[in-house]
Amino acid sequence: MKQSWSFVIFTVIVSLPLISAVGWELNTPTTTTAKRSNLRVREGSPFKIAIFADLHFGEDTWTDWGPRQDLNSVTVMSNVLDAETPDFVVYLGDVVTANNIPIQNASLVWDKAISPTRDRGIPWATLFGNHDDASFEWPLDWFSSSGTPPIRCPATSNSSSSSDDDDDGCADMLRGTTRVELIQGEVKASNALSYSKIGPKKLWPSISNYALLVESLDDSKPPLALLYFIDSGGGSYHEVISNAQVEWFKTKSNTLNPDLRIPELIFWHIPSKAYKEVAPLLWITKPCVGSINREKVAAQEAEHGMMRVLENRSSVKAVFVGHNHGLDWCCPYKDKLWLCFARHTGYGGYGNWPRGSRILEITEMPFSIKSWIRMEDGSVHSEVNLTSD
Ligand SMILES: *[C@@H]1O[C@H](CO)[C@@H](O)[C@H](O)[C@H]1NC(C)=O
Ligand SMILES: *[C@@H]1O[C@H](CO)[C@@H](O)[C@H](O)[C@H]1NC(C)=O
Ligand SMILES: *[C@@H]1O[C@H](CO)[C@@H](O)[C@H](O)[C@H]1NC(C)=O
Ligand SMILES: *[C@@H]1O[C@H](CO)[C@@H](O)[C@H](O)[C@H]1NC(C)=O
Repeated sequence: MKQSWSFVIFTVIVSLPLISAVGWELNTPTTTTAKRSNLRVREGSPFKIAIFADLHFGEDTWTDWGPRQDLNSVTVMSNVLDAETPDFVVYLGDVVTANNIPIQNASLVWDKAISPTRDRGIPWATLFGNHDDASFEWPLDWFSSSGTPPIRCPATSNSSSSSDDDDDGCADMLRGTTRVELIQGEVKASNALSYSKIGPKKLWPSISNYALLVESLDDSKPPLALLYFIDSGGGSYHEVISNAQVEWFKTKSNTLNPDLRIPELIFWHIPSKAYKEVAPLLWITKPCVGSINREKVAAQEAEHGMMRVLENRSSVKAVFVGHNHGLDWCCPYKDKLWLCFARHTGYGGYGNWPRGSRILEITEMPFSIKSWIRMEDGSVHSEVNLTSD
């Protein structure tokens, strides 16, 4: 055990300069992150993706409860990763509960949420939910007479200033860690397995807008799938997919997949209103497939035509969202594509429904997408064929 660890550490130390050297060579002067090669199907096996949704790391860190939830969430992820050995992991937003994180650098908490995947050498990508860059909300009981721990603002001023004992170290804390800072923290060169991208600047404040290609093993064949990640907002701005994002998606998808030959899968955090249209009333009955339907769909605040564009592309097979912890179903939409919830993965966030992860399995020949939910305790349910009509 000890020997293997020192071997790992040795290997990492020896290969670090190599990794950074490669990263440097591939860098264009305008980007700060290393370019990753495309994802690729492994020989003889389908391409498998695990979705980790709503982990909500960093809740109530000033209590015993909070840190315990994060450990529990690490166990969920570890159990899922060991049972499924996926090729890729998608962190579907609300990775952290930034409004609970009283430190300036939420990247440190974010990093903990990523670690079970990184430790297993599995590549991943992330997108933002409505909690990841939220501002710190001072807990109400901190204002009570027995108020638990007084917040320690980092000192920034050198000399004792003229006005009382002012200390503006708390000012940064109040604003939270921005989306840009979080994603820059993640895609740093040492996270060689991160496929996350800082989306085009013209779409800011929405950041996680990018596409990833999953290549076939055989280069002469068309790619297996295109994965699109879209920032559905929330936190520091409204819960919306803007018209600019819709236009970006149209251009991007028409460039990458003009003849609609490559199957496309879409990931974002907050459900669109279309989810309300297909939601089961009470019991989940065919054609929907799932195990919990315990809430109303909490949809985006405003929409600007994304669903119309998606339903018009025969290559788009399914959309995957999180946000609602008490929903885990997939339903077909207008007989064109599937609208799916993931499964609440984290012990952070509201709701005590047992934790799990939605798994996607993409098979090349003949093309087919199967999905199911793998629970923390190892059980599996809600298998659905997302390529059946
Ligand atoms: C925040 O933490 C990350 C590690 O996750 C580190 O790379 C970064 O330098 C930190 N930023 C600041 C401002 O301390
Ligand atoms: C603190 O002091 C250092 C050196 O005297 C100075 O460079 C720095 O700007 C000071 N910081 C603030 C916040 O006043
Ligand atoms: C639907 O797709 C067709 C053909 O690709 C295109 O001409 C049309 O503009 C699209 N409509 C919308 C609403 O995107
Ligand atoms: C899903 O359904 C399609 C169409 O009926 C079929 O071709 C494919 O084999 C099915 N996939 C699985 C994994 O059952």
